[in-house]
Amino acid sequence: MTSRHFLTLLDFSPKELKQLITRASELRTMQNNGVIYEPFKSKVLGMIFEKSSTRTRVSFESAMIQSGGGAIFLSSKDTQLGRGEPVADSAKVLSRMVDIIMIRTFEHEKLETFARNSSVPVINALTDSYHPCQLLADMQTYHEHRGDISGKTVTWVGDGNNMCHSYINAARQFDFHLNIACPAGFEPNAKLVQDNKDRVSLFRSPKEAVEQSSLVVTDVWASMGQESEQDQRVNAFSGYQVNSDLMSLAEKDALFMHCLPAHRGEEVSEELMEATDSVVWDEAENRLHAQKALLEMLLGTWTPHS
Ligand code: CP
Ligand code: NVA
Repeated sequence: MTSRHFLTLLDFSPKELKQLITRASELRTMQNNGVIYEPFKSKVLGMIFEKSSTRTRVSFESAMIQSGGGAIFLSSKDTQLGRGEPVADSAKVLSRMVDIIMIRTFEHEKLETFARNSSVPVINALTDSYHPCQLLADMQTYHEHRGDISGKTVTWVGDGNNMCHSYINAARQFDFHLNIACPAGFEPNAKLVQDNKDRVSLFRSPKEAVEQSSLVVTDVWASMGQESEQDQRVNAFSGYQVNSDLMSLAEKDALFMHCLPAHRGEEVSEELMEATDSVVWDEAENRLHAQKALLEMLLGTWTPHS
């Protein structure tokens, strides 16, 4: 099928991604100024969730409502998808009824199968492998606070998980260098690292990794689906907490981000969450504006100025 999808950051060109985050900031200003703008009138977003969510669900749903359209929340518990209806069949049927679909699921391959069988655009709202929507908000937030991220060093501290993988793609698309500090056995996908070896450096020591970094990012040590490994992971990641002491080794104006939900006292200290270098609340809010810009691009209601 011929629709354009957003399954990873590589589905958009670096130029389009830049235009998207600039547009997201414009949409933020419009929203904050109370401007009524309804480009999605009569458009419907289908939202399939096979994992929990607060930010992703509310930001997509609000984005559609504020823009004049609607959204339908589909939990796998309550749909035939959760009772074994083939993914391809679900995609063929749903895409005849809605204008655009977002999915949060486990295997990335399931999302790809869905997209191959969908006649409307499909958005990755998190898989075990990638979380590209979060990166749109993160890049918008960095840009709003510090300007262009190209040429800077960013450090990821913690698990080589879906967020880390999307940071590797972001390093390539937004032209920055990514240091990754993780314990042995928790490295990101080896092929992804190899394919981006000019942009990515692996470290064991968070202290060494954050030197000269303009942005430090972390995430939970046990992602959704890994709950049974929580205790083992807390041991493995001891020494990998991001706190103000660690931030003091980064660049003077370095920012801290976390996609949330956060486990205070584990991957991030209580004090850093509210410290002046933390932009986690803007980052969370920007999910709304960045996804509006993404929906505009995929629905074709806005075309970037060249
Ligand atoms: N960051 C993020 O995706 O949050 P939710 O799991 O609450 O959607
Ligand atoms: N890595 C986390 C991100 C949550 C938004 C998870 O997959 O659970």
